[in-house]
Amino acid sequence: KMTALIMAGGRGERFWPKSRKTMPKQFLSLTGDGKSMIQLTVERILPIVNIEDIFISTNKDYKSLVLEQLPNIPKENILCEPYSRNTAPCIGLGAIHISKKYDDAIMMVLPSDHLIKYSSMFINTLKDASEIAQKNSNLITIGITPDYPETGYGYIKFNPSMYEGRSFQVDRFVEKPNLEFAKEYIASEEYLWNSGMFVWKVSSILSKMNEFMPDTYQGLLKIREAIGTETEEVVLEKEFREFQSISIDYGIMEKSQNIYTLPGTFGWDDVGSWLAVERIKKTNEYGNVVDGNVITIDSKDCIIEGGNKLIATVGIENLIIVDTEDATLICQKDSAGDIKKVLENLKICN
Ligand code: GDD
Ligand code: MG
Repeated sequence: KMTALIMAGGRGERFWPKSRKTMPKQFLSLTGDGKSMIQLTVERILPIVNIEDIFISTNKDYKSLVLEQLPNIPKENILCEPYSRNTAPCIGLGAIHISKKYDDAIMMVLPSDHLIKYSSMFINTLKDASEIAQKNSNLITIGITPDYPETGYGYIKFNPSMYEGRSFQVDRFVEKPNLEFAKEYIASEEYLWNSGMFVWKVSSILSKMNEFMPDTYQGLLKIREAIGTETEEVVLEKEFREFQSISIDYGIMEKSQNIYTLPGTFGWDDVGSWLAVERIKKTNEYGNVVDGNVITIDSKDCIIEGGNKLIATVGIENLIIVDTEDATLICQKDSAGDIKKVLENLKICN
């Protein structure tokens, strides 16, 4: 049985000010076709998963957005977290819900805010991954050939001798290394990026949770017990509050054995910052990517997004300018990764 958990509880902070606490990145359309990234994510996997076997995990704040954007997903498959506890508890919650429905099943874990160019190749990769996940308690991660020392990704050191067709055994999983290590990994040509997409049996991931996050696992069992009963919400709220906030990458992947990776070549982009816009949309002859009511004079290599209000630029280069109704961002391209700091400041000021 193929099932999927789409993780949609992130805040998309590096995409501020378009991405907001009330409307994060996964609910926005960045491709210009009017479909949001989460809608595209669901559409993409429909060839291999029935819609009633797609689960969405999100923060309770985004429940209405999910219902509105994905009206065909059964309501009981929309799992709402009362507190943000990062991806390990989110995946645990998905796993126990799926295990309540099916004895055991293949579970694909997918972020809701990535773009994929070649859907059919992506589907083939997921099919291959699920075959390997059937065996033993293998955990499969989809790897991506890296091209620069990104410090915001996980790195997978793979054993170059092939395992079962297209996959490789993982020697080591390193989440978000510093720049020095990231450079070393790239130079060694022995690492892939972790795409953040995983395939495993529900039983495999639950047994890893039991092993590496026993407290969370015990809490998950209590939640499972309460599903469909009167106490469901109370138990969920009580257990979730106590959960350690940790990503699956740190909580499980860095510690586990029997991880395998399948290199994916399907035009992956995690739309990690404003710079991604240049990869998604066409740049004009001056290297600018503009959207909205914009006039540029002697300006080059800029990303400019506005709305109805006219934005005029003269003699600028390498800037990101994003104008929304109540906030405007002006940022050097080199500093795009630091946009999160604005939000930290806002939190402190408020
Ligand atoms: N439901 C839920 N609850 N979803 C969450 C939560 C949460 O508390 N936190 C994050 N998510 C969702 C995000 O919306 C996103 O779709 C996905 O989980 C991954 O979270 P990110 O916060 O975007 O993770 P990351 O980008 O820092 O790192 C991960 O992805 C990289 C590739 O994009 C890691 O897996 C890295 O190893 C990987 O390289
Ligand atoms: Mg991400």
